[in-house]
Amino acid sequence: MSDIRINPSILAADFVNMQAELARIASADFVHVDVMDNHFVPNLTFGPQMVERIQATSPVPLDVHLMIDEPERWAPGYAEIGAASVTFHLEASTEPVALARRLRQIGARAGVAVKPDTPVEGLFEVLDEFDQILVMTVEPGFGGQSFRPETMPKLRALADHARSVGSRVWLQVDGGIAESTIAQAAESGADTFVAGSAVFGADEPDAAIAALRSRAGH
Ligand code: DX5
Ligand code: ZN
Repeated sequence: MSDIRINPSILAADFVNMQAELARIASADFVHVDVMDNHFVPNLTFGPQMVERIQATSPVPLDVHLMIDEPERWAPGYAEIGAASVTFHLEASTEPVALARRLRQIGARAGVAVKPDTPVEGLFEVLDEFDQILVMTVEPGFGGQSFRPETMPKLRALADHARSVGSRVWLQVDGGIAESTIAQAAESGADTFVAGSAVFGADEPDAAIAALRSRAGH
């Protein structure tokens, strides 16, 4: 695995042909699975049973992004299913550090996500508690939105801080990532890129993954 990761989001896939859709992204690093509860975000996708079937079928490990209320209640279950990483939202969590510890204890990488307007400075002193931090580059809830460049200073501040303390945390971006925007995010310090429409909207998803990977290359 290189130091750049491309994680296609199955939110942009054909849900009733999931097995075939997963087979089209075998060159990805992880498959990004967007769980939405219609409360934390105004959209609904699927829950643990569906994610368990995706886990059993996917050629690549699962990167689960929980856009749900009460992550303390639900997130450990996704780690128990065998997801490689489980990311919950800082805005929804009451005990983010305790939850991250629990996820790691189960064996998953622990991730925390922030919406575009949520500050990240509070995470600086607890960086080591997380394996990845997801900076949303759109308002969570829907695929196909435009990348928000005003989130880049926040990403850069996180990247600078991580470098200054020698942290190995992965910095992930999600929303509007395409060939035209990925370099900007990479230059601001991202190393893990979620892309929904840019991958599943392409005729050849594996070729789209390769193109994104080369544009993100430093
Ligand atoms: C948005 C989701 C994203 C979404 C990205 O709330 O978290 O993962 O699928 O889709 P694109 O790449 O189309 O913006
Ligand atoms: Zn996502």
